[in-house]
This record gives sequence, structure tokens and C-alpha cells, in this order.
Amino acid sequence: MTNDPTAKPLAELGVADAQGVARLFADVKNQFTSELDVKQSANDWEELRGAWLGRKSGVLTRITDNWLKPSPPELKRAVGQALNELKAHVEAALETRRLAIEAAADQASLEREREDLSLPGVIRALGTRHPLRQTFEEIEKIFLSLGYSVVAGPEMETPYYNFEALNIPEHHPARDNMDTFYMSTPPGAAPFAEGAQGKPLLLRTHTSPMQVRTMEKQQPPVRIIVPGKVYRRDNPDATHGFIFHQIEGLAVDTDITFCDFAGTVEYFVREFLGPKVKTRLRPSYFPFTEPSVEVDATCVFCGGKGCNVCKQSGWIELFGAGMVDPAVYGFVNYDPKRLSGFAFGLGVERLTQLKYNVNDLQLYYQNDVRFLRQFA
Ligand code: PHE
Repeated sequence: MTNDPTAKPLAELGVADAQGVARLFADVKNQFTSELDVKQSANDWEELRGAWLGRKSGVLTRITDNWLKPSPPELKRAVGQALNELKAHVEAALETRRLAIEAAADQASLEREREDLSLPGVIRALGTRHPLRQTFEEIEKIFLSLGYSVVAGPEMETPYYNFEALNIPEHHPARDNMDTFYMSTPPGAAPFAEGAQGKPLLLRTHTSPMQVRTMEKQQPPVRIIVPGKVYRRDNPDATHGFIFHQIEGLAVDTDITFCDFAGTVEYFVREFLGPKVKTRLRPSYFPFTEPSVEVDATCVFCGGKGCNVCKQSGWIELFGAGMVDPAVYGFVNYDPKRLSGFAFGLGVERLTQLKYNVNDLQLYYQNDVRFLRQFA
């Protein structure tokens, strides 16, 4: 900048009085203003500050060195004052600009951070109800609508409730069919035992013990269903598990007939499997029902024509049931001459399988989400 006036002493610039000084400073101030006008960015700001306030070679340093220090005594005061004013002006203007640049940057980063409400959200996979749970709930709903109530009972049972009071005495062959888990006694612990008889406790092999427990506590009319887990010593495969699920049903009152029983069964099956399904009762045997039946339905897969699932018979087995055997009433102080009723034991896995055509029981227990999601 060879033309830069600040590089020359005042005398050389032909400034000899206070007016001249004022004009000179006014020019410098204008120069600053025009530079400030064009240099707007944050980088420009650093450059401007260096050019004007830089200690070694800034304009204000040059003015100090070239104008103020060598100025004649009569102008020193005017130069000093003007220099101070200029300095204050430059500093204030740069500070104002700095704040403006900062505010703009804040605004820009706010804009960047602002939520875009049109973007798709983070979608968390929703859990689904397990198919067995869905079957439980559906069946409960059907029986609740018929006036039944839902009760629960212990999974660890006594042989009395699991067998004896259900008319299955100690050496009855029916005990063999239900391969039972008995509780062992941990070393040093008081034996798990059934009261004075000292017989080991067991894991219930069916929900039927709750028939007895309910009738012990409650006078007729009784209308209950009992959803729950049951245990048998089976090796797990496509059709067996050592834990599975049942829903027991029991209705006892003064005038319950076989017709009521058959009607209830038919109503339930149609509600659960669909209105086209027909039922049939086939003679069977349980120690605690008499007569006992297996409830069959027309095959849900072929509509009764015959297919692989029903082994060409057109019928599939649903569950066991029957009229409560009067012998059971003896264990709960019910009067068999006055009272009658029926009971049924629904296999929850079996009914779920028929509804959704699942052919491997183990799928229910593996909790593979690819399987479970299909029941959403
Ligand atoms: N408790 C029987 C079972 O588990 C089923 C059943 C229940 C049969 C009630 C008749 C009446 O096999």
C-alpha cells in the first residue's frame, strides 16, 4: 500500500491544523466503514481485526507510530483524541459485527438441529401375544360369556388332589399313563410331604385337581374353568412336551344333564373353531367321569372329507370330558343324589394347533420371533 496515508508522517500529508487532522481521521474512518461493509464473513472478521487492531502492523499502530508520536506539539492533542475516538469506533464496530456473526452461526446450527417432523420415526417392533396365550384368552372369553368364572390352582400338588380324590387310587393303572414328576427332597431339607401321610408332592399332571379343590370350598352351583400348566414325564418331540397347558372346566348343579353337557361342548367348539364344525362324542374312559367321552370335531382342514391330518377319517380328536363321577362327590361332601355335573379338560396346545395348522408342538416353546410374529 504505497498510497497508504498512515505510512507517512503528518507533515508529508500536508496536515498542519486540527481541521486537517479531523479530515484525515474522517477519511480513515470512511475507509474502515467501507471495508467493514464488504467483509462480512467470520474469516473476514479475523482479517479485518488484524488489519486494523493488529499490534505490530495494524492501521491503528501505524497511526500511533507515524502520526501521533512524531506530531508537532500543537497537534498532538488533536491527533491523540481523534486516534482514541477512531480506536473506540473500530473496536465497537468489530464487536458488534462479532456478535452478529455469532448469532447467525447459532441460528444456522439451530436450523440444522431442528427436528424434521416429516422424517419417518424410529419404529420399535411391537411384541405380539403368544399363540397359546391367545387361545387361553379366547377360550376364557367364551366360557365367561356362559357365566363361568376363571380360577387358578397350584402347580405343585399332593397325590390326594391329583389322584386319590379324582377316584384314582394308589395302584390304579391310570396313574401309569400320567408319568408323574415327584418332588425329591434336597439333602438336609425337611421333606416335601403331604401332611401326615408323608407322601412326596408332585407336579400336577392335569388341571383336574382343581375340580376337587373348588368343590371342597364352594357349594353348588359351580361353574369354573381353570387355565394352567401341567407336567408329564415325556420326551419332547413334535407332539409331546414335559410342560403343556390345559383348561379344566367344571359345572355342577342340581339339574345338569348329559344334554346340557353335550350342548355346552357343541357351543364351545363352534365358537372356537367356527360355525361349520360338527362335533361328536365318542365313548372313552376317565376315572373321575362317568360316562366319559372324547369330543371329536369334523376335521378343520378338509371339512370332513378326509385328509392326512384326520387320517382320512374326517374327524379329529379335540379333548376329554364327561359327567362327573359320583365317586368324586364323595370326596368333597357333595350329595350325589341331588347333584350332577360335567367336566372337561382342554389341551391348549392341541386346540391352538388345530386352529393355526401348526404341526410341531416345540415351535410354541422356542420363542422364535419369525414364528411368533405370524400370530400378530
Ligand atoms: N384330566 C384329563 C386329562 O388330563 C382330562 C379330563 C378332564 C377328562 C376333565 C375328563 C374330565 O387327560
